[in-house]
Amino acid sequence: MSLELTDITLTYPDGDSRLTALDEVSLTVPAGTTTAVVGPSGSGKSSLLAVAATLVRPDRGRVVLDGRDTAGLSRAELAALRRQRIGIVFQQANLLPSLTAEEQLRAMAHLDGRPARAARERAAELLGAVGLAHRAHRRPHQLSGGERQRVNIARALMNDPAVLLVDEPTSALDQERGAAVMALLTSLTRQRGTATVLVTHDASHLAAADQVAEVRDGRLTLPQPVPAGGPPPGR
Ligand SMILES: Nc1ncnc2c1ncn2[C@@H]1O[C@H](COP(=O)(O)OP(=O)(O)O)[C@@H](O)[C@H]1O
Ligand SMILES: [Mg+2]
Repeated sequence: MSLELTDITLTYPDGDSRLTALDEVSLTVPAGTTTAVVGPSGSGKSSLLAVAATLVRPDRGRVVLDGRDTAGLSRAELAALRRQRIGIVFQQANLLPSLTAEEQLRAMAHLDGRPARAARERAAELLGAVGLAHRAHRRPHQLSGGERQRVNIARALMNDPAVLLVDEPTSALDQERGAAVMALLTSLTRQRGTATVLVTHDASHLAAADQVAEVRDGRLTLPQPVPAGGPPPGR
């Protein structure tokens, strides 16, 4: 269960020419690890997630999810793959106002025709895992911003995804709640073995990641990790 992006180029129409949003990007995210993606606004971070989520087909390059090359899949097969193997967490929680936390999660399983009891049990387990067992019957307006984002994360895990894609999950949260959401995401990633890509603009969150990728003008670089004990002398 891993995510592999190889030589991805993505362009968008831009007047008479095309804008290169991703420029030969390669990235491997092993199961059970979190890759943080940083970079200035407009550098291509959300485009990278959209390609990994199979929501946007790149001009060139390969997206291999969970060992499967997505290139040959039909629209219907991609939709099924997204539903069953990919969890997506966007900046805004986008919860349905009329549903309780538990119902938001169960609605996901319903889409996939799972038995109601299994869905209830899984929803309860995940709400527990994100520390919201006691909020299961609250609607979004009765939850704090941090709690809503945790419901959002639990919902993305409902179908046991192989790949978890998260776009600036902490941007609407204060520092302390943001750090708590980051810690939760990295620990759920290890426990559940997902390959997680997490876009963040907050440098204080990077220490929790297994690898940090930097995107600039559509090009991705993986700076060498600083070895334990600090950088070697003479640098
Ligand atoms: N649907 C789109 N159509 C045209 N251009 C887009 C579209 N989405 C993003 N872009 C452009 O692609 C570049 C990368 O955008 P994006 O991936 O959203 O960057 P980031 O998430 O790092 O802010 C930007 O120049 C943006 O304006
Ligand atoms: Mg973005």
